[in-house]
Amino acid sequence: MSTIFHPREHEDPRPQRGALPAIASPAPHETNAASQSLNGTWRFRYTETVEAPDGEGDAFADPGYSDKKWASMPVPAHWVLNGYGAPQYQNIKYPFPVDAPYVPDQNPTGWYRYSFTPKWDAHKERGMSWYKVWVNGQFVGSSTGSRLPAEFDVTDVLKKGKNVIAVRVHQWSAASYLEDQDEWWLPGIFRDVTLLHRPHGCVQDYFIRTEYDHKSGKGTVWHDSDGCVLSIPELGIKTPGDKMTIDVEPWSAESPKLYKAVLTSKNGSEEITLKIGFRTVTTNGGVFRVNGRPVKLNGVNRHEFHPDLGRAVSQESMEQDIKLMKAHNVNAVRTSHYPPNRAWLDLCDEYGLYVIDECDYETHGFSEVGWENNPSDSERWTPALMSRVQRMWNRDKNHTCIVMWSLGNEAGIGINQARMSWWLKQRDDRPIHYEGDYECKYVDVYSRMYSSHADVAAAGKREEEKLPDGKQDAHRRGLPFLLCEYGHAMGNGPGGLTEYQDLFQRYERLMGGFIWEWIDHGFPRKTKDGEKYYVYGGDFGEEITDGNFCIDGLLFPNRKPSPALLELKKVIEPLRMTVQNGHLTIESRYDFIDTSHLALTWDLQAEGKSKGSGDLEVDPVAARARLTVPLPAEALQGPGGETYVTITAALKKGTKWAKKGHVVAWTQERVAPATQVDILSGELAAVEIGDNIKLGAAEFTARGQLISLGGIKFLSPLNVQLWRAPTDNDRNWLAKYWLQYGLDRLHERVDGIDVRSGHITVSTLVCPAATNKGYRVTYTYAAPRDSKDKSLHIHVRLAPFGWLSGLWTLPRVGVEFAIDKSHKGVKWYGLGPGEAYPDSKAHVAVGDHALDIDDWATPYVRPQENGNRMGVRRALISTSSAAALTTESWFGGNRGGLEVVSDPRQDKDDEEIWGTGCNLTVRRCTSKQLGSATHTPDIPDDGKVWVNIDYKHSGLGSASCGPGPQEKYYIKADAPITFGFTLRAV
Ligand code: GAL
Repeated sequence: MSTIFHPREHEDPRPQRGALPAIASPAPHETNAASQSLNGTWRFRYTETVEAPDGEGDAFADPGYSDKKWASMPVPAHWVLNGYGAPQYQNIKYPFPVDAPYVPDQNPTGWYRYSFTPKWDAHKERGMSWYKVWVNGQFVGSSTGSRLPAEFDVTDVLKKGKNVIAVRVHQWSAASYLEDQDEWWLPGIFRDVTLLHRPHGCVQDYFIRTEYDHKSGKGTVWHDSDGCVLSIPELGIKTPGDKMTIDVEPWSAESPKLYKAVLTSKNGSEEITLKIGFRTVTTNGGVFRVNGRPVKLNGVNRHEFHPDLGRAVSQESMEQDIKLMKAHNVNAVRTSHYPPNRAWLDLCDEYGLYVIDECDYETHGFSEVGWENNPSDSERWTPALMSRVQRMWNRDKNHTCIVMWSLGNEAGIGINQARMSWWLKQRDDRPIHYEGDYECKYVDVYSRMYSSHADVAAAGKREEEKLPDGKQDAHRRGLPFLLCEYGHAMGNGPGGLTEYQDLFQRYERLMGGFIWEWIDHGFPRKTKDGEKYYVYGGDFGEEITDGNFCIDGLLFPNRKPSPALLELKKVIEPLRMTVQNGHLTIESRYDFIDTSHLALTWDLQAEGKSKGSGDLEVDPVAARARLTVPLPAEALQGPGGETYVTITAALKKGTKWAKKGHVVAWTQERVAPATQVDILSGELAAVEIGDNIKLGAAEFTARGQLISLGGIKFLSPLNVQLWRAPTDNDRNWLAKYWLQYGLDRLHERVDGIDVRSGHITVSTLVCPAATNKGYRVTYTYAAPRDSKDKSLHIHVRLAPFGWLSGLWTLPRVGVEFAIDKSHKGVKWYGLGPGEAYPDSKAHVAVGDHALDIDDWATPYVRPQENGNRMGVRRALISTSSAAALTTESWFGGNRGGLEVVSDPRQDKDDEEIWGTGCNLTVRRCTSKQLGSATHTPDIPDDGKVWVNIDYKHSGLGSASCGPGPQEKYYIKADAPITFGFTLRAV
């Protein structure tokens, strides 16, 4: 006898049963019809498989069933974040065999029950991978694709008084094959559950369409809504649907003007109040335009994520996101890779963000099996995919903020994209996006991800590689070009944003891009000692995982901006300001508004001290215009020393997203160079040789190792350091070569000491084990004769020997040493306040900065190189705290510590790239120790303060996903390197 198993109901690829057709159903706050939220605390039972315990089947749906022994579960929420099962993280791979439409027998299932008493009589219901719904024991329907609503008519099953809704939710279903987005798998009912009253004769479907004609300044509105009347009081419009054209203020992300619109059903039984805007999006001539103007998208990819709530993001969290985006000059968001909570789109309409609304569709895991049986090219999956695109469009079509529809992400290509695109095109004229359509058969923009600067430049010139089919090639070459993902913000990075932005601005075909991604998907945990930290893929014991690849956001999990977000804000600022020959040039990158909402000020600083400031009265600069004005003389004249003028453009009035005074754009320019004080120019101390060697205030061992300077003891040798704790970007590429070469395990042997006319020269050989290739290093020390000046000048020269095969760039080049742990604060004059690397330093400015050593580090979720301060002319590592240091002047005051003064750079030409002065890092562990930690609590306190003074740090690049650092940011490994600095005990 043989048994044949048919697919179980949750393995049926068909998307829904019993659900109502998708329409533009109003959100509860948009209609005067009653509604009742069924969110709250539900009764809950958890099983590891789809079968109910004790063979009781679906008896749990009966109203009389006793759920007394059940637990409770919040709705909306994920059961894996509320005590049942565990989240799991994979990027591409399915966490189960690729055996579509079948899913494993081990299939975590949530059984939900909730009792409620409706506040009125007649009804409709909306409800999460696959779920089945019963009301009062009667089956009402089942659905998949739970980011979008499914609506069920429950009119006939509801009764007066107590009603019971029961829902069975399976983590895995056929639909899981369609939802292989790069994020945590988080099951549960995570969207709202609402009971909606639909009065007799209520508004059915509605689509309010608008256009804006930039030539005439007129807007047109019409609607398709089954006999409803539309009124827009502010415009004096009342129409049953005919096109009306009238003077309007258009909507844009910069000026998101919305009009209140009221739709009244034919019999007056329902009124729906919406906010609509007037705007037109076109791609004619291969240029992306909004309201007739070419627009650049300075966007981010946003997954829905909150460290405590998962995808069940709250209204407050969404508001926090949009404010942060606006305050960081972001003007666009791609809802990667599914339609968001509908409230997010309301916020985007209102605050002004251009949105790419993306279909809930990704099948990336099929790439692991050569795309065999990929749903994109299979009839069997057509209903499911059409349902997804139709439900997205129907729910979201009335949102002004949506400027493009996206068919999904990384799902290969096939007949189903053709159908989805065709269906959308019958209904809507907004452009269609899908990166996977490489030949651009079904889309209106040519979209790529993670292209190199060179490839983006080629696309900008419409000179990208040809497609084999000439006609298709010409078509694609005629489309605007978008980077739907670039600048992978994993860990420390990305670098190179400035150069991308320059390209976007230069070529009209380039419509900008979206950084991957908005926030790190890290979950909080505490150590036994109560220290909070964040975990990532693998920390829940997943069978396969992509580790910290989900920690790749511009925000840390606690929504604090990372240096990458600050860099992005600066790079995409809407005003490009430059100071040259006593004049300020303002180039507006606004597309619609002028600069009258911004107040300009100047501030002059000499050697970090303010020497005056004032307002700048400048006429408003029109969108995309340029203006040059003279700067007042007092903004330009320093009283001596290195002098910088900083020009700031800040909000004159508070907005929804930032307070008055919020800085939107700034620039800084050097107006007078530094007067260099060369400690080697006076008389030099003589070398005294005893058991130890003495030079001024410095003491060395007989083998030339620095032991102390003034009262300061050196607790480790002062050695050349070429290694940095690899960043995620390094780890995916360059660090492999660095490790192969052994830069993390260099040996240094003193080869000789030469003592001559006030100089000690120590020659060493730096080389990894098992090779005979490395660097010959010479450290040359000199000190002033004046005994009050406890300075020591150190000059370092590295000369490569042997062929450094496979080593074309170094992670860093500098020295590392340790001093006593009593040092607390650091004050420096240089770039700051934040960390910076040569290809991510737009956001830092020259000035005096101070920080406690304990606040020095940037808390990347997975520990890695961080905290480098660039352009440091001088620094004081002090036993005083930063707070005390800020109030003290550099000279005098009650402070003790070690001062670091950088030599001028040898390679003046490269100042643009490497900055003036040195790089500085101060932390309580070594670079090596930092690199061995996998979570923040693993970073040890070594009981010493470790100081890195670097001549150069390699660029960051974006190689964790995308190109590495651009060549100009390489530190060439095969040429001699020299640098110098002074240490002074104070
Ligand atoms: C892209 C993908 C994103 C994300 C990113 C890397 O290929 O579309 O979802 O996986 O790479 O973080």
